[in-house]
Amino acid sequence: MTVLASALDPASTEYAAHREAMLAKLAELDTEQAKALEGGGEKYVARHRDRGKLLVRERIELLLDPDTPFLELSPLAAWGSEYPVGASMVTGIGVVAGVECLITANDPTVRGGASNPWTLKKAFRAHEIGYANRLPSIHLVESGGADLPSQKEIFIPGGALFKHLTQSSAAGIPTIAVVFGNSTAGGAYVPGLCDHVIMVKERAKVFLGGPPLVRMATGEESDDESLGGAEMHARTSGLADHLAEDERDALRRTRRVVSRLNWRKAHPDPAPAEPPKYDPDELLGVVPGDLRTPFDPREVIARVVDASDFDEFKPLYGTSLVTGWAALHGYPVGILANAQGVLFSAESQKAAQFIQLANQRDIPLLFLHNTTGYMVGKEYEQGGIIKHGAMMINAVSNSKVPHLSVLVGASYGAGHYGMCGRAYDPRFLFAWPSAKSAVMGPQQLAGVLSIVARQSAAAKGRPYDDEADAALRAMVEQQIESESLPMFLSGRLYDDGVIDPRDTRTILGICLSALHTAPVEGARGGFGVFRM
Ligand code: COA
Repeated sequence: MTVLASALDPASTEYAAHREAMLAKLAELDTEQAKALEGGGEKYVARHRDRGKLLVRERIELLLDPDTPFLELSPLAAWGSEYPVGASMVTGIGVVAGVECLITANDPTVRGGASNPWTLKKAFRAHEIGYANRLPSIHLVESGGADLPSQKEIFIPGGALFKHLTQSSAAGIPTIAVVFGNSTAGGAYVPGLCDHVIMVKERAKVFLGGPPLVRMATGEESDDESLGGAEMHARTSGLADHLAEDERDALRRTRRVVSRLNWRKAHPDPAPAEPPKYDPDELLGVVPGDLRTPFDPREVIARVVDASDFDEFKPLYGTSLVTGWAALHGYPVGILANAQGVLFSAESQKAAQFIQLANQRDIPLLFLHNTTGYMVGKEYEQGGIIKHGAMMINAVSNSKVPHLSVLVGASYGAGHYGMCGRAYDPRFLFAWPSAKSAVMGPQQLAGVLSIVARQSAAAKGRPYDDEADAALRAMVEQQIESESLPMFLSGRLYDDGVIDPRDTRTILGICLSALHTAPVEGARGGFGVFRM
């Protein structure tokens, strides 16, 4: 039998404590996500409605097929920055006329929908996802363009937005712009570069320069409609392919455009799959509040994969990394999950071999992180931990099958890299509220800093102030702790969202379905030199 057994006891006090800690973190997360849902706040929302306009999430809801899910990406973008949570844009994956699409939508209630540096990062990440997975993209446009006070951060890198649109088009990935309002200056190139353009009558304003700028530049007198109204673009300039009566009509027309794309996924959808044998609700009780306490990742796997069925690979070798084969919503996956936290030489070599196998078989990989990194110490250095860790990093870097990463617990040091951290381009990366990620743990980092400072003082022959050292350590620990938390990391776009553990299977299922839009092909060779 390959159905996983579970040792999790929902009646135990540990389970109750883990669950309570996780629920508390989820409540904090809800509070922060609510800020993104509020958009620009009551005043601007009311003004927007008074103008007879739909809110950004209402537009998305009307665009999507009824009762289908929307996987929102990076909802906490800009968290902890000076800009509003959500970064004045909503991005995500949803189904339109039966086609999985990437959607980006400005929130015009947040500073006129203007793009700040975090909006740009969010838009870039959305493009990466759409491009890698070959998802048609739909852009719901209403924006004041660049956030002018932060133009120095966005003007030069921001040009890539337009390049991305045309590169998607060149790659045969359809792009659709729906213009609801302002889309001036640089924003005019969004419809300019999309394959299909829909504009809302008397609302869309698409011009390189508005009337005041034109007056300044050439002395010509003009008005919004003649310079860039939807009627003009539909009848005269030809920039608009469709003139929509109102917002609802625009969304209806967008659905028609998608239905005529003749879009076919590279892989057909699999047959409906058997759910896990164990209740996903129990995922709340798996991860201890204190990540130093180990937990068995098979308890997570058992609640995520089809029928809790898992064929473990090399279960007796390199036991601190669990590897094996399963299916998730009918899609085959190879799973790598940290067990005891530390990666040793055997674990690293096992990972490299497993990643190669997945590539030979065209099987996507799922990384479940709970690692404190590669093992340090004389014995391990002499045993070649560097070259073995390097093998794993080489394998992960040059692997061509799609990767999914979920930070369920710790994700520290080069272990974060070996387990396909953000810089290793997983197709999607999510964090549980229990996750923590940094170069090392806060205590260790503060301790290292203190040892270095003490040695430096000794080398200069200066006395060392132990009291100041204790205060410094406490301060550094606190800083690193707060910078390791998922909300902070999500705010910086280091993940695609912090998710409720109970939703893991659904979210990974949506991702697997979306990524099978593009061909899933592993690397048959093409790895770097494996140092043996
Ligand atoms: N950068 C920074 N802040 C901006 C902004 C921008 N590009 N566009 C709008 N805002 C701010 C406004 O100053 C205003 O702030 P306040 O309420 O604190 O005073 C808030 O966002 C809402 O703007 P408002 O003009 O009241 O909203 P609106 O819905 O009536 O009009 C626009 C929206 C986008 C049409 C209008 O704000 C505008 O024309 N903005 C400038 C557009 C532009 O030229 N951008 C440069 C392109 S590169």
